[in-house]
Amino acid sequence: MNIPFFAFKRKYAPGSADREQVKKIVDEVLDRGIFIMGPEVKRFEECFADYIGAKHAVGLNSGTDAIYLALRAIGVKPGDEVITVSHTATPTVSAIRLTGALPVFVDVDPHTLCMDPALIEDAITSKTRAIVPVHIYGHPCDMNAIMDIAVAHHLPVIEDACQAHGAAVGGKKVGTIGTIGCFSFYPTKNLGALGDGGAIVTNDPTLAEKVRELRNYGEATKFHNVIEGTNSRLDEIQAAVLNWALDSLDKNNQSRQRLADLYIKELGTAPLTLPPLSRGTSERVWHLFVIQVEAEQRDTLKAHLAEKGIETMIHYPTPVFKQPAYGFLDYTADDLPVTTTASQKILSLPLYPELTTEEVRAITKEIKSFLSK
Ligand SMILES: Cc1ncc(COP(=O)(O)O)c(C=O)c1O
Repeated sequence: MNIPFFAFKRKYAPGSADREQVKKIVDEVLDRGIFIMGPEVKRFEECFADYIGAKHAVGLNSGTDAIYLALRAIGVKPGDEVITVSHTATPTVSAIRLTGALPVFVDVDPHTLCMDPALIEDAITSKTRAIVPVHIYGHPCDMNAIMDIAVAHHLPVIEDACQAHGAAVGGKKVGTIGTIGCFSFYPTKNLGALGDGGAIVTNDPTLAEKVRELRNYGEATKFHNVIEGTNSRLDEIQAAVLNWALDSLDKNNQSRQRLADLYIKELGTAPLTLPPLSRGTSERVWHLFVIQVEAEQRDTLKAHLAEKGIETMIHYPTPVFKQPAYGFLDYTADDLPVTTTASQKILSLPLYPELTTEEVRAITKEIKSFLSK
């Protein structure tokens, strides 16, 4: 067996339709000769805003800068506090630190592994300037509860939707529920570019304009800097690829859903914890399929699957608060017990539209046989 965790080599295999299409897209950009801030970025911003159901989208170079610039746009400054989770990809936290603000971690809900709304109010201080919930693995946070708290405390919410393109709560896509939504188009995402890319979405025209300035050296017009900015632009080639990929996002999310359904059916009786399903009005998407097994079994199961040719990953093996770079924040496992335990039990199984049902059956068979011993 040879089941990779990521399947770009399959998607872009020599001679495949996707590879030929991407070559055509790159050729078109080369023929046009516009590489920065051209028609592809403009079109992508319009189409992505339309897809997400937001008034504005601003194309950026990464999800990290999407979060950073969203925080800058709402006025987060050095010394402010921003409430978020440690059970996330490190860039959520590095983006907060780029503003000079201090991340304040709350623990996650043991079922969804998303921010536990019951813990937010205790973390709010006079320095709190924003809440950054993370829709981890494609599962929406409890946005109704989070928004109630945010509104009561007059706090903006910056949604980290970098893993949740197309997920929704109450019919609204994630990214449009808070003040600004942040997306990554890192190649492995449900909507992925051929390199780095990102975007913010918002219904607020002033915030959208501010992010447009911030991403382009702080320029309001050419060579006129109204704010200290940076270069966080999405480029034309990535935007052109994203314009093409956006058309298949729903179809690909459905393929992921079918494969996740099969995983759930096949693993239903196994002694492990399955990932959370859509519940109530929340509609999740499947970015990662993350199971939880006993901590003592996790690494041996991973090794066993690797031996059988099945590649898995852990998102994330070391919680951000335990990373050497963030030791100065001074959190311990006792502060974040659910985050800590989850990091010892989680295992991400392969999940992408190019994965076959036979492969899912083979993976689940190996997992079941290992856990039955
Ligand atoms: C939850 C989360 N936040 C932020 C990011 C940062 O996105 P990027 O890699 O595009 O900077 C990612 C992607 O890696 C992510 O998964």
